[in-house]
Amino acid sequence: MSISAFTGVFTQQEALPEVAQQAALAQLASGRLHRYNTVEGETAETVLLEQEFAEYMGAKYCLACTSGGYALHIGLLALGLEKGEAVMTNAYTLSPVPGAIVNAGGVPVLVEITDDLVLDLEDLVLKIEQSGAKKLMLSHMRGYLVDMTALMAICDQHGVDVIEDCAHTMGASWNGIKSGKFGKIACYSTQTYKHINSGEGGLIISDDEDIIAKCVLHSGSYMLYETHTAAPSAEVFERHKYITPNFSGRMDNLRAAILRPQLANLDQSIERWNKRYHIIAECFKQSDVIVYGQRSDAEYFVGSSLQFRLPTFSVQQMLDYVAACNELGVVVKWFGEQAPKGYTSNHHSWQYINPQPCPKTDKTLSTLCDIRIPLTFTEADCQHISEILCYCAEFINQQEQ
Ligand SMILES: Cc1ncc(COP(=O)(O)O)c(C=O)c1O
Repeated sequence: MSISAFTGVFTQQEALPEVAQQAALAQLASGRLHRYNTVEGETAETVLLEQEFAEYMGAKYCLACTSGGYALHIGLLALGLEKGEAVMTNAYTLSPVPGAIVNAGGVPVLVEITDDLVLDLEDLVLKIEQSGAKKLMLSHMRGYLVDMTALMAICDQHGVDVIEDCAHTMGASWNGIKSGKFGKIACYSTQTYKHINSGEGGLIISDDEDIIAKCVLHSGSYMLYETHTAAPSAEVFERHKYITPNFSGRMDNLRAAILRPQLANLDQSIERWNKRYHIIAECFKQSDVIVYGQRSDAEYFVGSSLQFRLPTFSVQQMLDYVAACNELGVVVKWFGEQAPKGYTSNHHSWQYINPQPCPKTDKTLSTLCDIRIPLTFTEADCQHISEILCYCAEFINQQEQ
């Protein structure tokens, strides 16, 4: 192949900002890592993070916890999920999403996606009617936002509560409204590959005082909930404190300390991601083989990863394409792969739920590729990557002819 290989590492995130490193050292020096271990007059880093995230989101309440999946789990319980109750979710998402539904005692009902990688609203109506589900765990998978105005109209009309999985949309918005402000609850992840990085971690926001009080109690607040400032008053907790089990999943002060400076920089990071995303997407415009998801003008997204399809390719061509890109140093994930690989799986491998035919989703996934765009890549790196992606697509396409 007459193109030079790329040597960057797709899983290498940036070092944490100096100020975050200093904050971590200060926290370690204090020895007070547990969120409820404070001295007189001290506000825990975890409490400050919750206040700052609530402010960033324009939300009334916020809780920090151990992971995005944990946030989804206790969020569903706080919404009043009953054992065996149906919960709709996207047929295209990652495994912690159906996992959280099952963990909470729910039964996942898969809703098809469109070629543009968002929930198929016609199928949503059908699934509401068929299953009678009153809850939707809406996964903004890979940062694609469905028409939120239309979706909320459908859910409101049918009395369906929405819990937003914003693992890939922290900082994104629809018509100027931040992703996470549409549903009753929104859940975020701060795992290493997300938009702010604490290794592991999760955040929940809600404007509903009873919901967030239940989340705080579930997360393991014991009777120390009054130290939470992005939370409702003690009377609200009185209503729930004897009947809400402790599912221990608190965030610690060390993680909160390193997240706060990253949150302060989030909007600048998003600009840097989007610059890189657009360099790659621009190059795709010259390819007859590659198609990438159309995005609405109403959507402000975070280009921390990029998805594209090769709609004319067979299974063998997809395998050859992924192998060719990999040979040239570009790690491409393929959602049509039969066996789950690394972080990537599709609904066929979630065999702990009832199998559900999703032909439309399967067709889309059969030629869907995915790459990460870490901020350690320069703009020149992104140009190089895009050339390899297009070169390999042309190469495999021509081999077939
Ligand atoms: C779409 C989606 N939702 C939820 C999660 C769960 O986040 P966490 O890994 O913090 O549990 C992930 C994690 O990768 C994800 O990709």
